[in-house]
Amino acid sequence: GGLATGAHAAAPQLRGRAAGKAASAGSPFTVPLEVQRPIRPLRLAGHDFYRLTTREADVSLLPGTTTRIRSFNGRISPLIMAERGRPVLVEQVNRMDVPFSMHLHGGHTPQRYDGHPMYQLEPGERRLFRYPNEQDAATLWLHDHSHEQHAENIYRGLAATYLLTDEFERRLPLPKGRYDVALQLRDAQFADDGALVWDLHGFGERHTVLVNGRPRPYFEVAARKYRLRLVNTSNERVFALQLGEGEEFTHIGTDGGLLPAPVPTRMLQLWPGERQEIVVDFARFGVGRRLVLSNAFPYEGEAPEVMRFDVVRRASDPSEVPGTLRPVPDLGTSAVEREFTMSFDPKTRRHLINGKPFDMHRVDIRPRLGVAETWKVVNGDGALGIPHSMHPHLDAFRILDRNGKPPAAGEAGLKDTVAVPAGESVRIQVRFTEHTGLYMYHCHMLSHAQMGMMGQMEIIR
Ligand code: C2O
Ligand code: CU
Repeated sequence: GGLATGAHAAAPQLRGRAAGKAASAGSPFTVPLEVQRPIRPLRLAGHDFYRLTTREADVSLLPGTTTRIRSFNGRISPLIMAERGRPVLVEQVNRMDVPFSMHLHGGHTPQRYDGHPMYQLEPGERRLFRYPNEQDAATLWLHDHSHEQHAENIYRGLAATYLLTDEFERRLPLPKGRYDVALQLRDAQFADDGALVWDLHGFGERHTVLVNGRPRPYFEVAARKYRLRLVNTSNERVFALQLGEGEEFTHIGTDGGLLPAPVPTRMLQLWPGERQEIVVDFARFGVGRRLVLSNAFPYEGEAPEVMRFDVVRRASDPSEVPGTLRPVPDLGTSAVEREFTMSFDPKTRRHLINGKPFDMHRVDIRPRLGVAETWKVVNGDGALGIPHSMHPHLDAFRILDRNGKPPAAGEAGLKDTVAVPAGESVRIQVRFTEHTGLYMYHCHMLSHAQMGMMGQMEIIR
């Protein structure tokens, strides 16, 4: 295990502008982490019912100021807990003055509940959504997918963590309960009065890193193991996470749930839309230690700190990381091969897949239900240095190779979003197994998707 074990080694080529000392608002580690409390559902026979109202809300993110966000039920970074075999019903009420389209990222969701922009809710509308939760445990997230508006809506706050658990996972001796913590990481740009500054092209100015909505917080932990579920809800920021002075931690899961086996690592990349699950054993450091989680790829002139773990007390620890976690299914042999070239067109300033911007009225590909396909995703922006990624909706996939080489152990699990750094290429194998209909695939650099880098597939029988 070298420095980059468990992550793809290549650094994304990011073009952030230097921002001098305005780099990161405020000093780090002055506010405590807010551990997300789950939204309480109405527990009915056989399913859980929620009402999620999307509306503007004034919340305190930076000390001493208030920020107007677009929220679910008035909260920043809310959490929903779901169980396999127990459907979640959501009545979604849109009380904003912009459209909203609810998408469960990573969910195996019937077409009409998947957030396709043709189903978006206009201001004032409400509709019932149903998530079947008939898939393996994984860290999913809920976010907007409205037409040419989602990048801004997500930036302004419309992102919730959705933890799906199952019996298999519950039987493993991994850290549970208060020692299983979701961390939603993102960036933002704030005006002096606390207002969010939004600019579709302004990713290089978003120098404030928020964890569960708080700027570079500290988190008081016990000297024992914690399971941390990292979700990157940024529009475009890539994190390369390191702990302390390059301490070792254990990578146990990714987008599609648990890895086949734990992977000891010292650095982990987390691209927009991706999830990474790790176990950190704070007993190794002892009470009194403070460990900074930092980003090894900050923009130029920017501070690297993301948050700090303060080990403040002893605790008993019955948890363990088993040597095998969850095997990855064999998807069979691919019967279809496709190629997707992701590129920016400087003339039109649009982001394209195979030379075309998204068109809701065009079907780009028609995969067959149950038939495995190999997709080669090529980043055609090597010269411009623009990183991209690929996220097909519905079923998770496996990474076959990255620039022709087998994936690192940390990329060997089921993924639903794959990083494709500038000039690189990745081959994935995907098989759609449950639902037919119209779905999207796109770059998860959200402004790229909003500027056209999205295609439409129709899954057919
Ligand atoms: Cu998280 Cu279609 O996206
Ligand atoms: Cu992109």
